[in-house]
Amino acid sequence: MTDSTLKLGDKDYPVRKGSVGPEVVDIRKFYGQSGMFTYDPGFTSTASCESGLTYIDGDEGVLLHRGYPIDQLAEQSSFMEVAYLLLNGELPDQGELDKFTNTITRHTMLHEQLATFYRGFRRDAHPMAIMCGVVGALSAFYHDSTDISDPHQRMVASHRLIAKMPTIAAMAYKYSVGQPFLYPDNSLSYTGNFLRMTFGVPAEEYHVDPVIESAMDKIFILHADHEQNASTSTVRLAGSSGANPFACIAAGIACLWGPAHGGANEAALNMLREIGRPERIPEYIARAKNKDDPFRLMGFGHRVYKNFDPRAKVLSQAAADVLDKLGISDPVLDTARELEQIALKDDYFIEKKLYPNVDFYSGVILSAIGFPTTMFTVLFALARTVGWVAQWNEMISDPDQKIGRPRQLYTGPTQRDYVPVGQR
Ligand code: SDX
Repeated sequence: MTDSTLKLGDKDYPVRKGSVGPEVVDIRKFYGQSGMFTYDPGFTSTASCESGLTYIDGDEGVLLHRGYPIDQLAEQSSFMEVAYLLLNGELPDQGELDKFTNTITRHTMLHEQLATFYRGFRRDAHPMAIMCGVVGALSAFYHDSTDISDPHQRMVASHRLIAKMPTIAAMAYKYSVGQPFLYPDNSLSYTGNFLRMTFGVPAEEYHVDPVIESAMDKIFILHADHEQNASTSTVRLAGSSGANPFACIAAGIACLWGPAHGGANEAALNMLREIGRPERIPEYIARAKNKDDPFRLMGFGHRVYKNFDPRAKVLSQAAADVLDKLGISDPVLDTARELEQIALKDDYFIEKKLYPNVDFYSGVILSAIGFPTTMFTVLFALARTVGWVAQWNEMISDPDQKIGRPRQLYTGPTQRDYVPVGQR
């Protein structure tokens, strides 16, 4: 919808309103008409696309998936239902949910030859390295769902990715601990099947603990999608060239791995463990505020949220609930709460509007469930695959989409002639 214009130089550019949130000025003709580029490293003021999937109000701490608040989805929905919602735009009725869940369930097995990929990695390989490799290799096994111009193949590839990520993730964990891989069990829920493949062993029955299953499913819901974050933008940019969906998701996994992004959940728990005792918190707060110290409070701050990350609020409560139900007391949770209280009263964090984000508490729960810290970002990638494939599908279907190709402000040497080595 174009309601008004913005004058830049002697030209008027259309201003478009979304259904909610900041308006955008459409500058697609700006370079052609002005000979200038806009400059926005980090895309702090740039809308890269139009999307109807997820909306964040960073000032109010609101996160909506297709209009539904994340706290309501976390408390009342399921990861399979949220996946359907993100992919299709509406909550399913029972028949639609059962059909979708059955489709995903029946795609959880991996091509048997993919198991040999794992044996090429060192035992101590980081599971995210394995995820990047194995997911990128999927296109070598599923050629019948790589024609992105065919909506049916796009949906088959999307279902395969959502279905196979738990199997790939569980196998990465099993390989790292030297235990045999378990095949999927179609009688279990999506999340229950993942827990069994991860923590079950062939030598005995594995009983899915409903407390852990519910906590894990809630964690998946909270990590499903988040507007145009770095890894989602990576998936969209890779997809804009026509790359196959498996390669695009592998690119997203690689980007998510960074400690400034999805790698922060692993870094946050390692930081909380390093702090160890509440008495050491002031030392780390001082380091975080010290311009000359590269240390940052991991799990704190966000590009968009300048208020509480609503996901962190849900995870904070879930951490207490899960530890209580499992009868676990983890001093790291006490340290996290104490750190949060001290930081939120500190002028530095108040002035810069730094609050706990999704990665601050998630590690406490994942650790209580039994995951090593190296698996934390793998679990983030598993859940975010739903958002990545939904955003990828939306991009491919967008008539405005074209290959992403940013420009630059060039500050290097101007043209000069080559000088032979003997004359330098
Ligand atoms: C995720 O984008 C998404 O939606 C991501 C995500 C998703 O679901 O996809 O929400 C998942 O990635 C969450 C964020 C996880 N990362 C971390 O927890 C790492 C620690 N946080 C920071 O590195 C940082 O807050 C970012 C990367 C999250 C955001 O960085 P920005 O928006 O680029 O902000 P900035 O680096 O410019 O910081 C602004 C100021 C700076 O100080 P000044 O230079 O203005 O003096 O705040 C300071 C920063 O030094 N600051 C911090 C800090 N985060 C920002 N200072 C101490 N500790 C921190 N954690």
